[in-house]
Amino acid sequence: MNMPLPFQQVWSPEDAVTIVTGASSGIGFELTRMLVEEGAHVVAVARRQQRLTELANATSCPERVHCIVGDVTDASTREKAMAAADSLRDGRLDLLVNNAGVGAIGPFAEASPERMRRVMEVNFFAPVDWTRDALPRLRQAAQEGGHPVICNIGSVLGHRAVPDKSEYCASKFALHGWNDSLRAELVGDGIGVTLVSPSTTRSEFFDSLVETDPGQKSASVGSWPPTRVAQAALLAIKRGRSEVILSLGGKALVYADRMSPPVMNGLLAKRGR
Ligand SMILES: NC(=O)c1ccc[n+]([C@@H]2O[C@H](COP(=O)([O-])OP(=O)(O)OC[C@H]3O[C@@H](n4cnc5c(N)ncnc54)[C@H](OP(=O)(O)O)[C@@H]3O)[C@@H](O)[C@H]2O)c1
Repeated sequence: MNMPLPFQQVWSPEDAVTIVTGASSGIGFELTRMLVEEGAHVVAVARRQQRLTELANATSCPERVHCIVGDVTDASTREKAMAAADSLRDGRLDLLVNNAGVGAIGPFAEASPERMRRVMEVNFFAPVDWTRDALPRLRQAAQEGGHPVICNIGSVLGHRAVPDKSEYCASKFALHGWNDSLRAELVGDGIGVTLVSPSTTRSEFFDSLVETDPGQKSASVGSWPPTRVAQAALLAIKRGRSEVILSLGGKALVYADRMSPPVMNGLLAKRGR
């Protein structure tokens, strides 16, 4: 007997055609695994082929993982991923997860201009370009009676900026603003837009920072494993949530800032340099 769900499910992974960028590690890896176990096909995108193969083999249904190897900022990667999705259900797409992301740590004044450009390209312009190409396919799913979703993996640092992460905060604030406009624009098309904002996550994120001294870490109150973040993201997608902010520390940062930005400015200010 099927147990009734404790919430109203808007989106179902069963037989869904999905694309997840940044699927080779961390949150994207776990989310892909969960989607496949619940019956979805996932076009899994990342640069490391070996990791994508390991991902497929970590599922009970490797044939449902369609690996596309490439950089998300390259148009050719996007085209291959869209073509792979098109081949599954005649051009219909039920979910796009813009998850691939990179960080950088260190003062803005000491960084090269390329650091800002690279972080913005991966974290902001890539999701924009992937979404633009996905839209007709998502519309088709809506016209066929589905409830397609765009899920953008943001960050609590897209709600409250902190020092020494100017590039990352800029990219996640841009993603947040664009996400909110898009959500309002796409209501009439029947396409949901979900922003998931994790706080510090114990992934490989801090091992691949752009132009940053090795060993840099993020100061944070507590951290979540990628599995927990992926579970929260999948639940938000299923429930058609517009936004979720994750972890107690993350919520504290965001809501304290909403209540009193000047207090947070004072607390976060760097002094005595
Ligand atoms: N970790 C945190 O503390 C944290 C906190 C808040 C938000 N987030 C956000 O969560 C998302 C996932 O991060 P994570 O924590 O899971 O980190 P992660 O383990 O480093 O995973 C990042 C993924 O993105 C892929 N990627 C990076 N640059 C890429 C590019 N140019 N082209 C294609 N794929 C690329 C990586 O694959 P390849 O290297 O194989 O290409 C990897 O699969 C990011 O958007 C990040 O900003 C993370």
